Amino acid sequence: MTPELMKGGAQVRIEHERRLAATSGQSGGRQASYSRIATGELDVTHGAILYLDDITVSFDGFKALNALSLSISAGEMRCIIGPNGAGKTTMMDVITGKTRPDLGKAYFGSTIDLLRLRENEIASIGIGRKFQKPTVFEQLSVFENLELALKADRGVRSSMFFRLNGEQLDRIGAMLTLIHLKDSAQRTAGLLSHGQKQWLEIGMLLMQDPKLLLLDEPVAGMTDEETERTAELFLSLEGNHSLVVVEHDMKFIGELTQNGRNGKKVTVLHEGSVLAEGLLSEVQANEKVVEVYLGR
Ligand SMILES: Nc1ncnc2c1ncn2[C@@H]1O[C@H](COP(=O)(O)OP(=O)(O)OP(=O)(O)O)[C@@H](O)[C@H]1O
Ligand SMILES: [Mg+2]
Repeated sequence: MTPELMKGGAQVRIEHERRLAATSGQSGGRQASYSRIATGELDVTHGAILYLDDITVSFDGFKALNALSLSISAGEMRCIIGPNGAGKTTMMDVITGKTRPDLGKAYFGSTIDLLRLRENEIASIGIGRKFQKPTVFEQLSVFENLELALKADRGVRSSMFFRLNGEQLDRIGAMLTLIHLKDSAQRTAGLLSHGQKQWLEIGMLLMQDPKLLLLDEPVAGMTDEETERTAELFLSLEGNHSLVVVEHDMKFIGELTQNGRNGKKVTVLHEGSVLAEGLLSEVQANEKVVEVYLGR
């Protein structure tokens, strides 16, 4: 989540708290919908955490997404590849409420209709997004960035009187280890390398414990070593979180999918639709995929 969205998320909570106060004593309907949004009750009993059906997005008649259908299982890591302009970022814009489709359905679990929610509401129900460019609070320390991400997850009133307790300090400590920034905890975030900033932003997202993480070209601009460590980090998240990873770096995709050995699926987007889906080895051998993307 970007700092901008974190502020937005806090704003949503203020609005909901106001609404809740105004409706207290009334019948349960509105309160029930409040708690659904605030706690993000997610129903994945049918297996899918994200379900897109027939999504179409047009820009001045040009279809950036063209009847796109996609389903991601709970706990799955799905890699998405495809040529420039295929619609990968637009797909993330639809999931996060930044862009409204002309047609189609988008569900988080089987009950939460994403197309009815605003961008900051979608962030607050457990969908975290990492944009390509790192967006951290440059003037604050690494530790303070993580602390802020933790606070942004709380109601406004409790956040005002919020002091880190032992458990929360432990969580920040564990996150610093996970994102390889333990030794840089007191460093100003603006002084980190590009790769470290990317990790910090991923750590900030994870502090909010998102159920679904969308990562748009997370290793762009990273060194080979940083890229390998990022693959390890993502693999360690799999199962507890669902991840959608968009990347052009095929070596990285190979590491994430263990070159298809564990049966992980890769989706290829082209001209706004799914061109192919299957094991990495299968899509790499697919003639259409080679023609539009891999053979370049
Ligand atoms: N706001 C917009 N207005 C007009 N056209 C847009 C807009 N956003 C995206 N597009 C167009 O939609 C198409 C899909 O763009 P998108 O950014 O989703 O591609 P992508 O798969 O993420 O590509 P890349 O790999 O280069 O990041 C492109 O042709 C792009 O120019
Ligand atoms: Mg893109």
